[in-house]
Amino acid sequence: MTENRPVVALDFPSFEEVKTFLARFPEDEKLFVKIGMELYYAGGPEIVTYVKSLGHSVFLDLKLHDIPNTVRSAMAVLAKLGVDMTNVHAAGGIEMMKAAREGLGQGPILIAVTQLTSTSEEQMQSDQNIQTSLTESVVNYAKKTAEAGLDGVVCSAHEVAMIKEATSDDFVCLTPGIRPAGSAIGDQKRVMTPSDARAIGSNYIVVGRPITRAEDPVEAYRQIKAEWSRD
Ligand code: C5P
Repeated sequence: MTENRPVVALDFPSFEEVKTFLARFPEDEKLFVKIGMELYYAGGPEIVTYVKSLGHSVFLDLKLHDIPNTVRSAMAVLAKLGVDMTNVHAAGGIEMMKAAREGLGQGPILIAVTQLTSTSEEQMQSDQNIQTSLTESVVNYAKKTAEAGLDGVVCSAHEVAMIKEATSDDFVCLTPGIRPAGSAIGDQKRVMTPSDARAIGSNYIVVGRPITRAEDPVEAYRQIKAEWSRD
């Protein structure tokens, strides 16, 4: 299950800016976009309905983490909105992840966040009292995610091989932190190019600023897509 379109992170603060950005693309260019917390909380569910009405696919990146019953009900609402992909925190546990799947149904892709990439090993050990290496924790959460029947995880491209080995080749790895050669890294620390991400087995790449802040976003999108989907 590898997606040939890069997932474009719509990290804009308002609905209006999303509309302006999407309007630059020809009508028949159907995108796969990521809507995160900021935009969703500012624009509301209508933003998902709007993007879907243009024919684009939506990854709603809300990272749910609550008691199983609440997550099940919330996921049922997201399923009605027509999201194509969404996510939870694996730290919510197997029972919560199973409830998420029940609420969402089998159609949309459901993935989990393991350890946030902003968490260092020291922080994990101190704040969460998990006394293993960060890598072991990531692999543990990936295994629990697979056991709960979810499709995969959000991870660094550098972790893909290890995660697939611990789960299966079919387990989806969605990887942010992607930069085409020569583009600005911004605040990302460990980046990978689209073609390298493809070569090491990523199934989805998430790309934000190299497209959204490009002078010509459509051209930047096409170049990244070509680099990512090349055989
Ligand atoms: O602009 P850029 O390509 O860095 O955007 C990457 C997107 O992926 C952002 O929406 C960011 O929040 C998200 N993300 C990330 N690293 C993670 C998880 C999510 O960059 N580990």
